[in-house]
Amino acid sequence: MKLVFASNNPNKLKEIRQVLGDKFEIISLKDIGCEEDIAETADTLEGNASIKSHFVYEKYGYDCFADDTGLEITALNGAPGVYSARYAGTNVSYQDNVKKALSEMENKSNRHAMFRTVISLLTGGKEVLFEGKVEGEITTEQLGKKDFGYDPIFRPTGYTETFAQMSADLKNSISHRGLALQKLETHLKALR
Ligand code: IMP
Repeated sequence: MKLVFASNNPNKLKEIRQVLGDKFEIISLKDIGCEEDIAETADTLEGNASIKSHFVYEKYGYDCFADDTGLEITALNGAPGVYSARYAGTNVSYQDNVKKALSEMENKSNRHAMFRTVISLLTGGKEVLFEGKVEGEITTEQLGKKDFGYDPIFRPTGYTETFAQMSADLKNSISHRGLALQKLETHLKALR
């Protein structure tokens, strides 16, 4: 089964192909000739995931799924949340956002945070949403490789390593996106 994943983010595509790749052919926006940045104008993860999947389905006619993820930090009243990609401003790097989060969390004793992913699947014009969450804490410094978002400062509950220090397989098996993808996979298998 061919499915468009409504993203050109190489980190996400890699994770998604690791989880679903041997059962489904996952095609990126680039693969269907879509180079546009789809504006994420909703104020919820559900809303943004839905905007992206509808955009692809309506403009290109492909069955597709889209995800939206936010890091919700309790001591910051849920920030950056739906604004995780733009926390330090527009057109900023992952490192700009991570540094802002670390500085906002300076001297905060409550380090609790949660990653949450919502996936919107649109097949034959019908939408289904899936959610995955993982709780953890914000570290006081960056630990591990610095190539994907807030991974170097998020340590999931029950583990000694941040997402950036653990193997891809371990992260995928416990992460927000991994859990939402497992639900998506169960649903897709039942459709076949
Ligand atoms: P998006 O809107 O789903 O692309 O996610 C918003 C932001 O959350 C991204 O720009 C990343 O900074 C961050 N993010 C999403 N997923 C992850 C993850 O698995 N690890 C670390 N950061 C992530």
